[in-house]
Amino acid sequence: MAVVEVKLPHHQYEVRIEPGALRSLGGWVRDVAPHAQAALLGDANVMQPHGEAACQSLIEAGYQLTQHAVPPGEDHKTLDQMRGLYDVLLDNRLERRSPVIVLGGGVVGDTVGFVAASYLRGVPFIQCPTTLLAMVDASVGGKVGVNVPQGKNLIGAFWQPHLVVIDTDTLKTLPPRELRCGLAECLKHGIIRDGELFEWIDANLDRINALEPDALVELVRRNVQIKANVVMADEREAGERAHLNFGHTFAHAIEATSGYGVYHHGEAVSLGMVAAMKLAVDTQRVEASLLDQTVQLLDRIGLPTKADSLVATEQLMQSMRMDKKVADGRVRLILPDRMGAVSIVNDTPDEAIEAAWESLRG
Ligand code: GLY
Repeated sequence: MAVVEVKLPHHQYEVRIEPGALRSLGGWVRDVAPHAQAALLGDANVMQPHGEAACQSLIEAGYQLTQHAVPPGEDHKTLDQMRGLYDVLLDNRLERRSPVIVLGGGVVGDTVGFVAASYLRGVPFIQCPTTLLAMVDASVGGKVGVNVPQGKNLIGAFWQPHLVVIDTDTLKTLPPRELRCGLAECLKHGIIRDGELFEWIDANLDRINALEPDALVELVRRNVQIKANVVMADEREAGERAHLNFGHTFAHAIEATSGYGVYHHGEAVSLGMVAAMKLAVDTQRVEASLLDQTVQLLDRIGLPTKADSLVATEQLMQSMRMDKKVADGRVRLILPDRMGAVSIVNDTPDEAIEAAWESLRG
């Protein structure tokens, strides 16, 4: 088993990574949140293949277990959905020390995490992410919340889990498109912090695509360690945690302006990283070879590096200005300094950003 420790000033927890880890879930939860009752709230699509192992293990560990299937999809990441989940916990009399365990991807993880943060003013929260994206990003760092009509993730909290259990076997049932989307965030981690990780993914892509157990554990471990390091240095995003948004200001504009489901998040991030890299080349921050290297690997993975269905550049610029990461009305971008290092840049001229958008067009 690989273990990454997340040590924060007032809280610390482990991320345990292992093929078949869900079979050990109950005993591990008992170590960090001993109580008579527990609730497992799982993505309805994930409960069928993976819920049974998790539930059985929790029951064997002595928990009186409440199970509930949560409707998946971004459309359900809402306050209404939360109300239903509070009802499940209240009706089953879950108490303040009862752990709430979430099984699924980032959408369900964020929603259930916010329920755990607010139910009885906060209960122990255990994350069992089942997508590569959630494993390497959302499950570490405590950002939880829901969408409202005014925007995504606008209502939420920081609520750190007591434990994260990553069963890499769950990746076997993940659609290949979602695996590729997770790899976009892994590449992002390489670009912002660790050039060797970027090279490792390049060298091991065939093993990853073949879902070799050792390769998956190593991939997840390296990425979780990077995410953990960033969160340990800046839990509340006062500074360097914003580096994780490399490519994301562009990506959010793509997601907000293209029709629902045209680009999945990781695909929009792939395009966003290419645009940010192009901007860095155009403004003489980095050599063109860094852009070429990035595009080549994204292409090999099968992620988009050109977009044929982008809306007008002015609309994309407007959407970027509405992003919640805007500071004092200026678009805040994360741009590379070299492979493995990025900076926050607040003074990029509009014309340079527009040129980066244009460069993405097919
Ligand atoms: N996903 C970005 C963050 O956790 O800060």
